[in-house]
Amino acid sequence: MELLAVVAIAVAGCTKAPEINVVPNPESIVKGDGVFKIAGASVCIGEGLDAESVQWANTFAQRLTLVTGKQSRVVASPEGRCVEFVLNAELADEEYVLEVTRKNVRIEASSAAGFRFATQTIGQMLPASYFGKAADPSADWILPVASIKDKPRFGYRGLHLDVCRHFYSVEEVEKILDVMAAYKMNRLHWHLTEDQGWRIEIKKYPKLTEIGAWRTGTMIGKDWDKDDGQRYGGFYTQEQIREVVAYAADLGITVIPEIDLPGHMVAALASYPELGCSGGPYEVRKIWGIADEVLCPGKEATFEFIEGVLEEVMELFPSEYIHIGGDECPKTEWAKCRDCQKRIRSLGIKADKRHSAEQFLQNYVTARVQKFVNDHGRKIIGWDEILEGELAPGATVMSWRGAQGGIEAAKKGFDVIMTPNTYMYFDYYQSDKKDVEPLAIGGHLPIDTVYVCNPCKDIPEEAQKHVLGVQANLWTEYIGTPEHLEYMLLPRMAALSEVQWCSPGNKDFERFKASLHHAFEIYDVMGLNYCKAVFGEYGMDYVKVDEPAEEKAE
Ligand code: ACM
Ligand code: ZN
Repeated sequence: MELLAVVAIAVAGCTKAPEINVVPNPESIVKGDGVFKIAGASVCIGEGLDAESVQWANTFAQRLTLVTGKQSRVVASPEGRCVEFVLNAELADEEYVLEVTRKNVRIEASSAAGFRFATQTIGQMLPASYFGKAADPSADWILPVASIKDKPRFGYRGLHLDVCRHFYSVEEVEKILDVMAAYKMNRLHWHLTEDQGWRIEIKKYPKLTEIGAWRTGTMIGKDWDKDDGQRYGGFYTQEQIREVVAYAADLGITVIPEIDLPGHMVAALASYPELGCSGGPYEVRKIWGIADEVLCPGKEATFEFIEGVLEEVMELFPSEYIHIGGDECPKTEWAKCRDCQKRIRSLGIKADKRHSAEQFLQNYVTARVQKFVNDHGRKIIGWDEILEGELAPGATVMSWRGAQGGIEAAKKGFDVIMTPNTYMYFDYYQSDKKDVEPLAIGGHLPIDTVYVCNPCKDIPEEAQKHVLGVQANLWTEYIGTPEHLEYMLLPRMAALSEVQWCSPGNKDFERFKASLHHAFEIYDVMGLNYCKAVFGEYGMDYVKVDEPAEEKAE
């Protein structure tokens, strides 16, 4: 018996099946015996696949060829060792089945999304160098024999990125999209306009990027009275925007642009002061926080401007949703503005016990912009402030001030996306060692807290269908470099992905935590910075100091 076991191990040799550490955890995994050697395997495209699925199968074959250093040919019928892409129309849009045997790999899906997710799962079952840019012929290119069935809990699996407080290059945004794809996320919420910088070229309004994209200084740390006096800014040309949208689409990710209005508009006001209540002058904001200066809805020119901007935005972004912001809009200027007050009178707006007339004026802005967007065949998303007062049917509410706005919205029959700051604000500290962590906006959001978020908590069963999904938000006031950006995202994005993808019974923090060792290897290969607080190492520049060597006795 013992001898047989020794022989079996010797025969298996280097083909011992590796652990499966896939994040987000697939719905079901049944492991078998043995392995499939994938290096040099062909990729077989079955009948009836649509063009997008075929394109993805080709992309997958190219990746295998690149990283294994052995050609993976694309073929039309199975031959030798092969990875088969098989259409199965019975499966839901994002569902897939992955069967790995010693002889072949069979992927079943009904659409490109399912095929993509199956190959992402395969990627994480392989050595980390699968995610690299060069061949690693020395790696063990084997897959454990297994039978996997998988599908997501939520259809909307998002990440928000603020590129306004600090600007990030196309290359960095694409790097983040790569990570999103690895975690089966499908929506990038791109926060493109702010008080501190306008980041998208609009041909009709060139001053937005000539003036609005640049500030003459940035506050230093948390000192609201001092700025560094350095010109800072940047923007994406329309060509670059198209490049990012196409790059994301190839990964199955839809980019949702946000034009935040009517607040958070100081950069636009600095460019076109006639759009404000006072007429200015204004300057692109150098400090964080909330500005009193907002768009003036008393002036028709303001709506012309919004529509002109949104027309170009909708040209650039094919997404079903356009995010129109709506958060943190002080009403102090509107209360004093002749044009705003005239608009209030002409609309017959009256304050009620809970809402000022100016609050209802914001509802008017939301409804008017919503109609414009709807008339162009799109839908709006707004931050949960849009729920205050009145909200027209068809709007989707993004709950950020905790979950309360989302719970209320769902009960009222609005679709919601949960991004509660209590679980999903990745600008918060990742550990309580604030003295060694890089400067953050505040808060305390360790990875285990992200992990336990339940987006449907306190939402009645019958209203849960309105929860489209979950998203984490990354505001970048205190995040000035790509290294810091990645540090705040990782590995919390991994936890986010399980909140978005896994059914509650399929989550387990200890299993997840153990899988992070493999995740960290992948981050290293991808050249990403990340936080190790979950394993007791704190700070972005944390360096473990070796114990002093024992003095030798002479
Ligand atoms: C927000 O965090 N102001 C939506
Ligand atoms: Zn006004």
